[in-house]
Amino acid sequence: MQQPKNVSNFPKHFLWGAATAAHQVEGNTHNQWSIWELENAKAKAAQAEYHYHDFPSWERVKADAKDPSNYVSGNLANHYGRYKEDFDFLEKMHMNAYRFSIEWSRIEPTEGSWSAAAITHYKEYIAELKRRGIEPVVTLLHFTHPVWFAEKGGFEHRRNNRYFVRYAEKIMAELGNGIRYVVTINEPEVYSYASYSMQEWPPAQSSRWKTWLTVRNQLAAHKQAYKAIKALNPRFKVGIAKNSVYFYPGDTAWLSRVSAGFMQWLQDDVHLRTIRRQSDFLGLNYYMSQRVFGYRMHNPENADRSDLGWTVSPGDIEYVLQRWHDRYQKPILITENGIADGTDELRQEWIKATVVALQHALDDGIEVIGYLHWSLMDNFEWAYGKWPRFGLVAIDYKTGNRTLRPSAAWFGRVIKKLRGV
Ligand code: BGC
Repeated sequence: MQQPKNVSNFPKHFLWGAATAAHQVEGNTHNQWSIWELENAKAKAAQAEYHYHDFPSWERVKADAKDPSNYVSGNLANHYGRYKEDFDFLEKMHMNAYRFSIEWSRIEPTEGSWSAAAITHYKEYIAELKRRGIEPVVTLLHFTHPVWFAEKGGFEHRRNNRYFVRYAEKIMAELGNGIRYVVTINEPEVYSYASYSMQEWPPAQSSRWKTWLTVRNQLAAHKQAYKAIKALNPRFKVGIAKNSVYFYPGDTAWLSRVSAGFMQWLQDDVHLRTIRRQSDFLGLNYYMSQRVFGYRMHNPENADRSDLGWTVSPGDIEYVLQRWHDRYQKPILITENGIADGTDELRQEWIKATVVALQHALDDGIEVIGYLHWSLMDNFEWAYGKWPRFGLVAIDYKTGNRTLRPSAAWFGRVIKKLRGV
């Protein structure tokens, strides 16, 4: 395995950090997801063996996966109350950036009424980061909707976009001073696909039309919010966070090459093309690549897998960066990247290969402005619940104890060296 170069080619202001999302760490949120969790926890626990028995981690995680409480976010590690302790870990790892999301359902619990307490909370949260010299990267919407918004049909109706835009304006006007980087919406197409095609997330419907419609409406909402936020202050850097799997042909056959190219286009360009003019940067969430034979995905059988069964191909991020750079010529912020690895056996190699890939990308003149690891801490992994462990910081949900994983301590030393601090 290639080692990161000792001489740093990272720009001085490169953002080194980690990411979280409100519903996945804060605890005690009340939104369309928390309601759905309570309704579905028992069924999910009962079906766990059927769905997940072929995961490499199954023997290790099955007790948790079969427990209904795994599927209810509940108090989690109470990041809402204990965020200062969690920020200590950012400092321990010499990080200078942190991505988090604001929970809309806390800010606007009922339609049109703003919670002063929640606004104050996030103001203090951001001020605390600034005090520590950590650049906040704020996400306005990360999959969770206030109940009243979901009841109106959420992004199924274009007319509902105005509620999101009003919230975006409000929050930026209130919190704006300390903020430069804003992600409007996290992974619009992943949300739509999981919620309206796969039926894995609320409202768990099966409709190709609604899948398409909700993606288009979210992209339109991004554009509207972009305009509103830039009108408040043109200095804000606004973008979305976009998931990208790297698809590559497994052989030289014409069909494999065309299929891989088509899948990449469908996943990336259909969406990015729409918002390129309303993006000051592109946020990239990279987790895996997929090998394509003919028109089907078929990955190497004997390769490493994460606890979720995902292929472990961190270095392929380089190809996504290259492709996005060639097509869009925008600064790229890696808004998420990481691995579900409860035993912490693969994470260090993952990060190492990623840093090498970033160094190659920078050498090739690609403007990568930061790397935010997913995740700062173990969290609520949506339909899978609490057992997948993405954290640099391990959480014991029984005691609330937090501990830095060995790979994270190592990463901290690498950041220190590369930042020259
Ligand atoms: C999401 C995160 C999630 C991560 C790992 C991304 O798609 O933005 O919320 O935890 O992937 O699955």
